[in-house]
Amino acid sequence: MAWGILSTARIGARLVEGARQTDRAEIVAVASRNEPAAQQFAETHDIPRAHGSYDALLADRAVEAVYIPLPNSMHVDWTLRALQAGKHVLCEKPMERRPERVVQAFDLAQERGLVLSEAFMWRHNPQTLALRALLDDGAIGAVRLIRASFSFVLDRDPDVRLDPALDGGALMDVGCYAVSGVRLVAGGEPTSIAAQVVTGPTGVDLRLTGLLRFDGDVLAIVDCGLDVTSRSELEIAGSEGRIVLGDPWHCIDPKIVVERGSGQEIVEVQRADSYRLELHDMAAAIRDDRPPLLGREDALGQSRAIHALYRAAAEGCAVAVG
Ligand SMILES: NC(=O)c1ccc[n+]([C@@H]2O[C@H](COP(=O)([O-])OP(=O)(O)OC[C@H]3O[C@@H](n4cnc5c(N)ncnc54)[C@H](OP(=O)(O)O)[C@@H]3O)[C@@H](O)[C@H]2O)c1
Repeated sequence: MAWGILSTARIGARLVEGARQTDRAEIVAVASRNEPAAQQFAETHDIPRAHGSYDALLADRAVEAVYIPLPNSMHVDWTLRALQAGKHVLCEKPMERRPERVVQAFDLAQERGLVLSEAFMWRHNPQTLALRALLDDGAIGAVRLIRASFSFVLDRDPDVRLDPALDGGALMDVGCYAVSGVRLVAGGEPTSIAAQVVTGPTGVDLRLTGLLRFDGDVLAIVDCGLDVTSRSELEIAGSEGRIVLGDPWHCIDPKIVVERGSGQEIVEVQRADSYRLELHDMAAAIRDDRPPLLGREDALGQSRAIHALYRAAAEGCAVAVG
């Protein structure tokens, strides 16, 4: 599968690394608003072609699929343009905070017969699959409470994450993983959400906490921050035990702790490059004609939950999700 990357974003290097580890993906082109930057990125990462505009990459006939690691507010605009150009799209998380825009993107993908997926790389990792299997096997009984955290101190300024015009903010940047985590564990979509937010001087949310209620009386707490020490955690408390993941999102040190009564079991999981796995998933969806792991339903669920969290924080009361 021949891939093009829209922009010289830092995260692009991780996808290039993932592509190097599989013969199911090859990065053949990169584009930047600034041609020398594209050339530099291409040289550094051994990519055959560099384009001086995103449109030029979309016009490149050798490119079959496009990876979009642009600032958040540009995700759907460039997804639509890539789909119109006949390219399959892997769009970085979070795809979009406005659910109607997610619908628009997936409608176009369907109309054109193209694959579109949101790049939540953690969902492809064996640790995440092992977690889901443990829950399905009833390892901790019925799921009752879920707690998911992701924070770090952002010390670069300017940064796209601090710009409200680019849809920055803690929830969009890292909190979206916590939302993805509690949705996966609950196995459905939240019905009601409450939230509290701390807004920073640039106008984006620097810290946000959310309370989510799912069908079956499952409750979840999510928190995120751009000015809080580095934390990544996913805890699931059930009727018969508890599961804790200390590195749920990056999966660099995969390990699942399962506690039941006074006993503790450590489930060791093989390390794997999540970016390689998401490229594999896209290749399978495009070549083998099966749906991607993360399609319309998941992206829409994410967007609805994020939209509701921001709405609940602004209104200061619980809101229904929909
Ligand atoms: N899945 C993951 O593990 C992961 C990790 C980090 C980030 N992300 C996501 O990837 C996306 C990019 O994040 P990043 O940290 O890699 O961003 P970044 O390094 O700041 O890069 C963003 C790129 O977007 C392009 N761009 C176009 N218009 C821009 C504008 N008005 N201001 C700034 N840049 C502009 C620039 O490329 P050119 O100048 O070359 O055109 C820039 O290099 C975000 O959506 C983020 O949520 C995902």
